[in-house]
Amino acid sequence: MAYTKIIAHRGSRGTRPENTLEAFQEALKVASDGIELDVHLSKDGEVVVIHDETVDRTTSGKGYIKDMTLQQLKELDAGSWFDPKYSDARIPTLQEVLNLLADNHFTGVLNIELKTDVFQYPAIEEKVLALAEPYLAQFSVIYSSFHYETLKRIKALRGESEIALLFSKKGKQQMNLGEGIAVEGWHPKFSILRSLPPFEQSKIPLRVWTVNRKVEMQVCLRKNIDSMITDYPERALQMRKVI
Ligand code: G3P
Ligand code: CA
Repeated sequence: MAYTKIIAHRGSRGTRPENTLEAFQEALKVASDGIELDVHLSKDGEVVVIHDETVDRTTSGKGYIKDMTLQQLKELDAGSWFDPKYSDARIPTLQEVLNLLADNHFTGVLNIELKTDVFQYPAIEEKVLALAEPYLAQFSVIYSSFHYETLKRIKALRGESEIALLFSKKGKQQMNLGEGIAVEGWHPKFSILRSLPPFEQSKIPLRVWTVNRKVEMQVCLRKNIDSMITDYPERALQMRKVI
């Protein structure tokens, strides 16, 4: 059997409203090996779990997360845009997600993506590290970002942290991999897999996103890529059983 790990992207994004407790519960229910989520900072400095810089696409509200307090964010419906039956879904804090994972005895890998490529949220790295610290005995945490400076900051603050660089094209970031600080993981977009150096020989784990189509899942499984990050963890888990 292939050993590629299945990481649920923004929870189980294909079947639940992304980055909500409902999505993470589903990822736990289907027994994903890992869970990925995205974090930003609210106006009052809370680490909140949501993908975009604004609430516009995935909630009933409008505006930048950095301009809204946690209380304002909590008033928004974060589920109806996906399906009206999820109208109770709210934007969770990172703390709430960590509690959910701990309460459900999760022992896999949590991939926290710090969304610092547009706004440089003050001390978000310190806050995320402090929140995750109490849970490290139970599950492992990988910190990823498209923003190289954030990864460097995480490493400087807590040297034993596992960091991974996200990239979507063959570019400067990728070229820098051998020059700057070491990263423990490469997180490339699936479409650039072929343009990477021979990754089968790499000792650094490759965690590829966002792998949703069956043919793409087959590629990851047959090549024994370390992990696939997918919106459909249940589908990927089923496929892994037969490859
Ligand atoms: O971790 C992979 C993936 O989440 C990166 O892109 O835009 O979905 O956060 P995005
Ligand atoms: Ca992400």
